[in-house]
Amino acid sequence: MFDLQTMRDQLANHYDLAPNPALAEEMSDIYSRMDRVVSPADWVMFAPYVAAILELKKKRNAVILAHNYMTPEIYHGVADVVGDSLQLAIEAAKVEADVIVQCGVHFMAETSKILSPDKIVLIPDMDAGCSLAESITAEGIAEMRAKYPGAPVVTYVNTTAEVKAASDICCTSSNAAQIVAALDSDTIIMTPDQYLAQNIAQQVPQKNIVWWEGSCIVHEQYTAKDLRDFREWNPGTRLIAHPECPPDVVNEADFSGSTSGIIKYVTDEKPEKALLITECSMASNIADALPEVDFVGPCNMCPYMKMITLEKILWSLHTMSEAVEVDPEVAEGARVAVQKMIDLSQKLGI
Ligand code: 13P
Ligand code: SF4
Repeated sequence: MFDLQTMRDQLANHYDLAPNPALAEEMSDIYSRMDRVVSPADWVMFAPYVAAILELKKKRNAVILAHNYMTPEIYHGVADVVGDSLQLAIEAAKVEADVIVQCGVHFMAETSKILSPDKIVLIPDMDAGCSLAESITAEGIAEMRAKYPGAPVVTYVNTTAEVKAASDICCTSSNAAQIVAALDSDTIIMTPDQYLAQNIAQQVPQKNIVWWEGSCIVHEQYTAKDLRDFREWNPGTRLIAHPECPPDVVNEADFSGSTSGIIKYVTDEKPEKALLITECSMASNIADALPEVDFVGPCNMCPYMKMITLEKILWSLHTMSEAVEVDPEVAEGARVAVQKMIDLSQKLGI
């Protein structure tokens, strides 16, 4: 559906996107936020796109909400707000601009549309999905309710609007434990991430947590043995895992938290060496702000997050496409579940 060549030809008719050393130099203040991870030659190529996007953003009265997994040239170059899923949802509800460009995956753009229905919400690539969101439908929620009658359904935001609408409350990796603990029920259904659910079950042992069998294709690849082998090979490295990793991986790590929780931990602790057991751009995005930390070891790329590029962001703002739409009735049901999460998080001080 996305004809890259047509997009490139049309963009070239409207913008001067050739590598531009003079412009790169002019924009060196922006480059200084990523010069540890983006080479000067790459910046010469990125600068014309960044300049064109910044200009068009003003013209369209648009804001760019970018997830922590975006590449550094997006995260530092064009984003107005960066954050984890919870932070982006909270920001989406407060946006005053006419247009939101969601640099992240589809469920994030849908969440923004649900919370800001009067805004135009654009996603630079409609195919940017998520293995967790694809793992469950509203029928799956009904199945779980039939199996565990009366148990509330806590659904990870990494889901479609239909699934959210069928749930009682949403959660993200930064508030799941507190939300589960606060619910007035012994048994709680968590969907769709089996590993997040199992990790939360360890943190909130007073609850009987049952789960759907979904998983994240990025985080499920890590094993506890990988972590043990890494510690042996590179002693003294702080191992930091996202809670979408299997529980034995999280147990082997020194810290586990949402993407923003990970950033906060590394910023506060400043370990000499850190291995972020999550998506690759995480370490790149904080490398410049933390020169004292050596980010080491392997990481996994999210193929969906990586579908979002500067070129597609420019195209999106140029053509005002593709706009995310949610059926109003579904959106209202989903909004209730997301808003309950935001309200409870704020009440709990998260
Ligand atoms: P965070 O809410 O921690 O940013 O996680 C979102 C996500 O998709 C991680 O894979
Ligand atoms: Fe989905 Fe995993 Fe990619 Fe996050 S990293 S968007 S959970 S596939």
